[in-house]
Amino acid sequence: MARITLRQLLDHAAEHGYGVPAFNINNMEQGLAIMDAAAAVDAPVIIQASRGARSYANDIMLSKMIDALEEMHPQIPLCLHQDHGNEEATCATAIKYGFTSVMIDGSLKADAKTAADYDYNVDITRRVVEMAHWIGASVEGELGVLGSLEHGGGEQEDGHGVEGKVSHDQLLTDPDQAVDFVRATKVDALAIAMGTSHGAYKFSRQPDGDILAMNVVEEIHRRLPNKVNIDTDCRLAMTAAFRKVAAQTKGEFDPRKFLKPAMDAMRDLCRERFVQFGTAGHAGKIRVIPLSEMARRYRSGALDPRIGNIAAAAE
Ligand code: G3H
Ligand code: CA
Repeated sequence: MARITLRQLLDHAAEHGYGVPAFNINNMEQGLAIMDAAAAVDAPVIIQASRGARSYANDIMLSKMIDALEEMHPQIPLCLHQDHGNEEATCATAIKYGFTSVMIDGSLKADAKTAADYDYNVDITRRVVEMAHWIGASVEGELGVLGSLEHGGGEQEDGHGVEGKVSHDQLLTDPDQAVDFVRATKVDALAIAMGTSHGAYKFSRQPDGDILAMNVVEEIHRRLPNKVNIDTDCRLAMTAAFRKVAAQTKGEFDPRKFLKPAMDAMRDLCRERFVQFGTAGHAGKIRVIPLSEMARRYRSGALDPRIGNIAAAAE
């Protein structure tokens, strides 16, 4: 069995210079697709579940499903991560159900719609970090509000995001503040804002530096390790497969005839991302550190952030 923390996986990725995609899961088909892709290319995996996924699938079903995937692929380090935790209880119950990592998105208040100030964010993130680290689980924070640099608002296509207008400053994470935030909260990973939003392609023109601040992500990446969330691409790939079957075989009513090609499409997409990010080939090189040992390392201070001029992942 290889349930890995986000922290250990990102430290390994930082040390060996590769990225790690984090795929969202809601059902068995997505889980099988992700793990088949990972096994095919020997990639460690981050599977993440949103609050929506947890209520759609049910915590018990979801956690048993992850147990099954882990049992089917014992050679693949698997990090189970809470995507966009909105408050302490969401993170605590995730850990109870076997998540080895949680996100607390303190850039927004608990309603996941109202932009929060920096102090609120530091405070709630610090408290979640303290709780998770006692157990050895990792924490991802968020600094800066996701939204469009073109019109100054959030996008709520998938039900997530700030309501109303926010300032340009709030929509772009300040690299110096990111370093302060990591120091103050001891967070293990950080989601940043750079002009991207939830959902599908949002730009009204080919993105340039004015509407997609790649310089921000590059500058922060030089100082801190991170992960890449992939949900919309998988949704698009699966739904395109459903539509194709529906259009080509109008009389079809066996759900498996829709789900199998959808699963295949998602598997191929995940596999492509593992190769593109350089994640492929690393699963077999990782010896998973159990949560109890991670907890001991957190307590000893060995995993406290060490930030210099360049990225400095703690060992
Ligand atoms: O960032 C949010 C996820 O991609 C989707 O969340 O499962 O609640 O739609 P959801
Ligand atoms: Ca997402």
